[in-house]
Amino acid sequence: MGGYKVFSFDKIPSTQDYAYDMIANGTARDHCAIVALAQSAGRGRYRRKWVSHHGNLYASFIFNSPERDPRLSYAVAVAIAETLSSFGIQPTIKWPNDILISGKKISGVLIEYAGRFVIVGIGINVHTNPTVAEYTTTRTDKYTRADVVEIFSALTKNLDKWMNAKFDSVRDMWMNLAVGINGMVKYRGEMVELIGINDSGALVVRRGSEYLWIHGDEIMM
Ligand code: BTN
Repeated sequence: MGGYKVFSFDKIPSTQDYAYDMIANGTARDHCAIVALAQSAGRGRYRRKWVSHHGNLYASFIFNSPERDPRLSYAVAVAIAETLSSFGIQPTIKWPNDILISGKKISGVLIEYAGRFVIVGIGINVHTNPTVAEYTTTRTDKYTRADVVEIFSALTKNLDKWMNAKFDSVRDMWMNLAVGINGMVKYRGEMVELIGINDSGALVVRRGSEYLWIHGDEIMM
């Protein structure tokens, strides 16, 4: 499918961990995709669990990445957003890469580097949406009849498109879809204004008359 070598499963512990194992045992290649319809030990950001009931899309993509690139996170968010838009769903993005529909989370991204690769883990709620304490959730089947395979196929194309796009266009698209721009966020215990992202993928915030560039997951919205 679209130049990817796809390993698909009904249920495994975590596609992300499977990708790690492939890297560790030397079988990983650029553009490997590990896909499952359910996970028994799905992982989210901040060491949270990613509740992974049967019927959703759980995928980890392996790409060559000799170095870390903070801009990747935005390209992935925009690729997921465009995938959902192509099925008539209007998403927004919550920094850095949560995808929301009407304020409810429909997709999350976990980016992890291992050796000379990066693993891009993407969960999209298709037929079930878990109840989680931290935020409200929704799923695609409330808005479209597209199934997991169609969504996965569109996602692979959009990942290639946006990961190879000039960062200016990624940033423009991200800024158009982002929620909370010019709103207040918490950074190291202080309230600061969220301005946007710069050329290198750092988050720009304003503290009084001072502009700060933030790398990493340090703000709370
Ligand atoms: C988040 O916390 O928002 C990120 C969630 C990432 C979940 C995906 S599902 C596919 C891959 N396998 C995992 O165990 N996690 C990621």
